[in-house]
This record gives sequence, structure tokens and C-alpha cells, in this order.
Amino acid sequence: MTALEVVIMAAGKGTRMKSSMPKVLHRLAGKALVQHVIDTARSLQARQTIVITGHGAPQVEAALQQANPGDRLHFARQMPQLGTGHAVQQTVPLLSDDAVVVVLSGDVPLTQADTLQALVDACAGQHLALLTIAFDDPTGYGRIVRNPEGQVQAIVEHKDASDAQRAIREVYSGIMAVPAKLLKPWLARLDNHNAQQEYYLTDVVKFAVADGVLVVGHQIDDPAQVAGVNSPTQLAELERVFQLRQAQALMQEGVRIIDPARLDVRGSLQCAQDVEIDVNCIFQGQVSLGQGVKIGANCVIANCTIAAGAVIHPFTHIDGEQLGVAVGEGALVGPFARLRPGAQLGEEVHIGNFVEVKNATLARGSKANHLAYLGDATVGERVNFGAGSITANYDGANKHRTVIEADVHVGSNCVLVAPVTLGAGGTVGGGSTITKSTEPGALSVARGKQVSIANYKRPVKAPK
Ligand code: UD1
Ligand code: CA
Repeated sequence: MTALEVVIMAAGKGTRMKSSMPKVLHRLAGKALVQHVIDTARSLQARQTIVITGHGAPQVEAALQQANPGDRLHFARQMPQLGTGHAVQQTVPLLSDDAVVVVLSGDVPLTQADTLQALVDACAGQHLALLTIAFDDPTGYGRIVRNPEGQVQAIVEHKDASDAQRAIREVYSGIMAVPAKLLKPWLARLDNHNAQQEYYLTDVVKFAVADGVLVVGHQIDDPAQVAGVNSPTQLAELERVFQLRQAQALMQEGVRIIDPARLDVRGSLQCAQDVEIDVNCIFQGQVSLGQGVKIGANCVIANCTIAAGAVIHPFTHIDGEQLGVAVGEGALVGPFARLRPGAQLGEEVHIGNFVEVKNATLARGSKANHLAYLGDATVGERVNFGAGSITANYDGANKHRTVIEADVHVGSNCVLVAPVTLGAGGTVGGGSTITKSTEPGALSVARGKQVSIANYKRPVKAPK
């Protein structure tokens, strides 16, 4: 099997993005455009991937190095940018003679690995294989010129094309597969004698024809796979295409998505059987949903595992970041709940509206149903945490833990000043500020005693 080496052109400016950020770092489904291309290259088991950088090179290289630690990712700088042929010339010292080179663009994110594999197969280690597509409106693209026998003779750029050539609907996608030992001498022969005074990579086609190398046009019919991003509008269009494809794949697995046009998955979403997802939900990072999980409308859920039968009510925000969040079987969360990193909810736990949980474990059957904060806490089974109660976990310098043992009832509007432990089965009276640990089974009350002043006269407004 021939070794693959992938070259990704990413030196262009992306003027039409009108952004200070290099174009290829703009995100589609939460991931940089060029990262989509790198990941596709990785799935082809490329021996090496070379990214050609130019505009914003330090920023692009730093971002990619960080996102691909330990990868065989190389960079070739192209300064200034004199065309696609000039771009690929910069990689010549890095390319091995025995490789098949696959040339991709960093701003074409949705090419599928099977398409590229078919192109590599068409190259067969000896031909020049071009990925092509027919457009009703081919304006702007390089045209695939074939002879009467159908053999590819040349790619003619739109600006250089005659009227007859402009009538050709088959265009070059910008993607080719070619043996390095053929490509290298062809690159050395490129010139810039054309309408744009650029070194066109596409001119290698005429060298192939002159050298008697077969040029294979491998045509596909899915425009999204060759669509480039040049503007915010095109970025948004491809985002919807990508999201719809993900939604369709999930539905094929049996996931019930109320409206596939209103789902965004920016990462990986694993679903067991009978999952239901209402409209306007966003899933980020790694999310897994167990059997029968229901996600209400307008939830944002990131880096979280939700066990079977749990229900996430509308407008809930969950982000596990690095630590992750776990929601136990049959738990109920929301509406308007917030689960932060390290929230670990056991089975049948209830977290209600305006409740925030961070770095806290709640054991089976515990409930915090209204307006509460549980941070850096260990909560036993069947605890009831009252409305408006919080753990005061931060003393201004350090975080401390609160331990609430099984069957404790914390009344409303309590402050548990950590570190503190509430003994099992205890009760904390509403409005208490608890600064000392409590005994199991005890009622603990820490608030001013109620006083009543009879016949109290309210102040009246002073006369002017
Ligand atoms: C190129 C093809 C054209 C094809 C079209 C498909 C050439 C000469 N033409 O045209 O046949 O139909 O793609 O979209 O190749 N880049 C660099 N350095 C440069 C110039 C470009 O890295 O000096 C990168 C760009 O950032 C981009 C890619 O190469 O990722 C393609 O460049 P672009 O200017 O979009 O090529 P087109 O002129 O559209
Ligand atoms: Ca282009």
C-alpha cells in the first residue's frame, strides 16, 4: 500500500471574512475549519500532514500545534502568496518520493474520507487524479477540459478561459491526488504567465498530459464536500449542512429529534435507545445520553454523561469542562438549572429551577428544587436542600467542603459556611447560618430570635 502524505493549503487571506482571525481558524461545529481537514486526513492514516501557512501563520501554527499534540503535523510557510502552485512548491523538501500526495484546502471542511480514499484509489500510485464536480453555475472555478475521447487535457482557470471553455460545467474542486515523484518535477516547471500572474497548481495537468501520465477526473455530485468557506454567509450555510447531516445520522440510529433544523452538535453526541431531543439544543464536547433520556427545549449541554431515564427540562445549562458532569439514572434536572464541572448527581436526584451545582456529589434521591447553590459539597442520600440555601464554600482565599449526611433536611434560606458537616438525619431551621458542624438527628437553628413589638407605629413623612 502506498503511503499518503497530505498537503493542506491554508495560506490565503480570506479577505471576505472581514475578520482579524485567519480564515481557516473560524469554527464550524465548534472546530476550526482546517481542523476538520486535518481530522479527515488523520482518518485516511496519512503518514504526514503538512499545513501551508501564510496569512496569520504564527497564529494558525500555534492553534494547530495546541489542538494536535504529538501529531505528525508539519508546517510550510508560504511568504508571499503567489498562487496554489507556489503554495505546494513550499512543501517539496518535506515530501517523500514514494508517497502519494493528497492536496486539500484548509477552507474546505466537509470533504469525506471515503471520497478522498476513492480519489487515492483512482490515482493508483501512478496517475494524476482530480476531484471534480459539475455545477450549473461554474463561474469562478477552473474548468475541466476533456478531449473528444473524454480524457482530461487541462484545467483552465475561469479568468483564462475562452467562452467555449466557460461553457464547461465540470470544474476542478481544488483537491487532487498525485504521486510525489511526478508532482515534484511538475512543480519546478510552473510559471505565472496567466491572467492572474499566479503559479497555478492546476497547470500540472498539462504537464501530465505532455509526459503521457493519465489524468483521471473523479467526479462526485455532493457540492457540500467541495464547498469552500469564503464569507460568513458560506460559513453559516455549511454549518447548517453539517448539522443537518449529523441530525440525520442520529435519527437513523433511532434518536427522536423534534426538529433536525434546530439541533447543533459541536463535538460528539452518543445516544442510547429512545432518546428524545426537543428544539434548540446545543451539545458540545463529549456528551452521552442513556436510554430513554429526554432533553427539553433550549438546553446547552457540554461534556456530560446522562444516565438512562433522566430528564433534562428546558433551559438547562450543563458544562462539565475538564472534570465532567454526571447525571444519574432517573434524575430530573431543570428547568433553568445549571450544572458545572464536577457535578455528580446520583439516581433519582432532583435539581430544580435556578439551582447551581459545582464540584458536588449528590447521592441517590436527594433534592434541591429551588434557588440554591451547592458547591464543593458531598451530599448523602435523600437530603432535601431548601429553597434559597447555599454552601458558602469560598472564604475569599480558599475553597472548603461541606458534607451533608443522609436524610438531612436543610430549610430555606440557609447558609452553610464550609468547612462544615451536617450529621445524618439532622434538620437545619430555615434562615440559619451554620458555622459549626451539627449532630446527627438534631434540629439546628442559628438565627436571631423573633421579637414582636406590640402596636408598632410606622414612621410618617415629615411635614415640609
Ligand atoms: C482554485 C483552483 C480552481 C478550483 C478552485 C476550487 C488553482 C489555480 N485554481 O482556485 O481550479 O476550481 O480552487 O475552489 O489552483 N492558497 C494558498 N496560497 C496561495 C493561494 C491560495 O495557500 O498562494 C490556498 C487558499 O488559502 C485556499 C486554496 O489555496 O485554501 C485555494 O485558493 P483559492 O484562491 O480559493 O483558489 P481559487 O482561485 O478559488
Ligand atoms: Ca476558492
